[in-house]
Amino acid sequence: MPISSEVRTTLLPSGRPIPVLGQGTWTMGEDPSRRHSEIAALRLGLDLGMTLIDTAEMYGEGAAEELVGEAIADRREGVFLVTKVYPHNATRRGAVEACARSLRRLKTNYIDLYLLHWRGDVPLTETLEAFQLLKEKGRIRDYGVSNFDVDDMEEASVGRGGDKIATDQVLYNLAHRGIEWDLIPWCRARRIPIMAYSPVGHRSAEQKRMLGHPNIRTIASRHDATPAQVALAWLLRQPDIVAIPKASRPEHVRENRAALEIELTAGDIKELDKAFPPPDRKIPLEML
Ligand SMILES: NC(=O)c1ccc[n+]([C@@H]2O[C@H](COP(=O)([O-])OP(=O)(O)OC[C@H]3O[C@@H](n4cnc5c(N)ncnc54)[C@H](OP(=O)(O)O)[C@@H]3O)[C@@H](O)[C@H]2O)c1
Repeated sequence: MPISSEVRTTLLPSGRPIPVLGQGTWTMGEDPSRRHSEIAALRLGLDLGMTLIDTAEMYGEGAAEELVGEAIADRREGVFLVTKVYPHNATRRGAVEACARSLRRLKTNYIDLYLLHWRGDVPLTETLEAFQLLKEKGRIRDYGVSNFDVDDMEEASVGRGGDKIATDQVLYNLAHRGIEWDLIPWCRARRIPIMAYSPVGHRSAEQKRMLGHPNIRTIASRHDATPAQVALAWLLRQPDIVAIPKASRPEHVRENRAALEIELTAGDIKELDKAFPPPDRKIPLEML
């Protein structure tokens, strides 16, 4: 695979393209002894075309944003930067100030996509007002939400600026398919791409359960791939799902990028459905 090959994009409601495969950063920047290798991993991912980087003011209380700022310092224009505001900061004034702090840490003057990390007590109308102001001032290009179930999306979408919500970033992987029942159809009907977090199963116990399942292992060996790659390929077969695996090991970064080239067959999908059945009823949105 040529190193400069581009990652496919999907469209946000604003018409701006968003890469369908990016890089997460949760837990990065927390351990100084790993700083060098984490920056190197992100830069390797950028070299391989995974230009979307997902972070949050919450991660390491700003440490992840600072690390990202360093990793992208000489290549900001080629990066699609996503960060998130804490719910308790998401007031009219608080979000504007939090965004300014994020911009400082990220060493940039704009954020591509700014998300409300989860729903808190601040009225959504206030947060949306702040997001619109930030957009008018050019500090953010698009805005969206995270960890919103359908009822939250319904409510958010009717307020001023609610029709411009660009994405909902939620837990979605083979072992957590609840959103297929209602949230995905809801977003799809409005052409809102979903960002799938923890795509390979954040925690090691869950990862073992998901990636160690015999069906996924058999499919992986048929494709000369790893189970993690099958988990990613399963998400990425849907054109409007954006996956953001976090990888600090270079071999994981390379594997994740290569997952985009794997085409699962109808038979593979059937076997995966057997191992990880789709929902047959409403399941309240799960989150980490
Ligand atoms: N909005 C939210 O509330 C929310 C919540 C959770 C996550 N997120 C975002 O989504 C990103 C991804 O989610 P996550 O970090 O929870 O989980 P994840 O990306 O599913 O899993 C990360 C773990 O998987 C390992 N890994 C990565 N690629 C692998 C591969 N090819 N094979 C085997 N193991 C692999 C990583 O190891 P190494 O690091 O050692 O390579 C790390 O231990 C986060 O980093 C964050 O940016 C958002």
